[in-house]
Amino acid sequence: MQGCAYIDEQFVAPEDAKISIFDWGFLHSDATYDVAHVWQGRFFRLDDHLDRFGASCRALRLDPGVSRQRMREVMHECVRRAGLTDAYVELLCTRGQPAPGSRDPRTCTNRFMAFAIPFVWIADPARQRRGIDLVVGTPQRIPASSVDPRVKNYHWLDFVTGLFEAYERGAETVVLTDGAGAVTEGPGFNVFAVFGARTVVTPERGVLEGISRRTVIELVQAAGLEMQVRRLGVEELRRADEVFLSSTGGGVIPIATLDGVAVGGRERGRFGPVSERLQAAYWALHDDPRHTEPVRMTAA
Ligand SMILES: Cc1ncc(COP(=O)(O)O)c(C=O)c1O
Repeated sequence: MQGCAYIDEQFVAPEDAKISIFDWGFLHSDATYDVAHVWQGRFFRLDDHLDRFGASCRALRLDPGVSRQRMREVMHECVRRAGLTDAYVELLCTRGQPAPGSRDPRTCTNRFMAFAIPFVWIADPARQRRGIDLVVGTPQRIPASSVDPRVKNYHWLDFVTGLFEAYERGAETVVLTDGAGAVTEGPGFNVFAVFGARTVVTPERGVLEGISRRTVIELVQAAGLEMQVRRLGVEELRRADEVFLSSTGGGVIPIATLDGVAVGGRERGRFGPVSERLQAAYWALHDDPRHTEPVRMTAA
């Protein structure tokens, strides 16, 4: 596998990046992470990802034991060593192992790791052009009062169960609700609905505040459209003229069908004007020095 990982303060090949099965990151999903991307040799919104990772670690009382500057260097160095132009770059912090015989998380030494691998798409451009089939899944998203979705986490059993359901129903991915009729998010993405020519809605609560979601919100506002961050009901989503996803794994991704029904009554492969405009604007930002920084080509 092409890529480079950082673990135990060493840069290693991906196949040599291993953790103990006794790490609570593995045993209890007691970990946080963040994923940034590099596109055509430039990191996109790296500071925003570092901010979110820092906030997630603080919320879970995890101490990666590495300065922000060192994290940035490690991310650059993983991409440089991997020789990647388009990359998926992940930072992780796990709880580690408690002292022998203890179950007290305060006795754990937390562990910081990172890796860069080739860019991972939620749906690659060819699939995006064909249009993604989305279903509203049966499982309820883990309540925010149990696991705060704003802290990026590996509590994905609800999503994985939902993905199996999506495949069984002939679709590709799934969005979960809060159990009270409101849309939340899906495995690796936020959800947007467009009503008419100028109103864009995304759920306010029960979701990760995606960096791509923030980018879309800013693009909608800059385009002079109306951005509403509020509760989005499932029935409302079904009436939307356009539906799209936002993710580091592919930007703005238009949805063709929702529960087997063509979104906005459109033919497969045809998407609404707002989604198309935002998709183009999202990728155009990848050349903008205000949001990007080139991968450093000298060793850290
Ligand atoms: C549950 C969940 N929601 C939303 C997102 C989208 O976040 P971002 O735009 O920062 O990639 C992700 C990304 O992995 C996610 O895992």
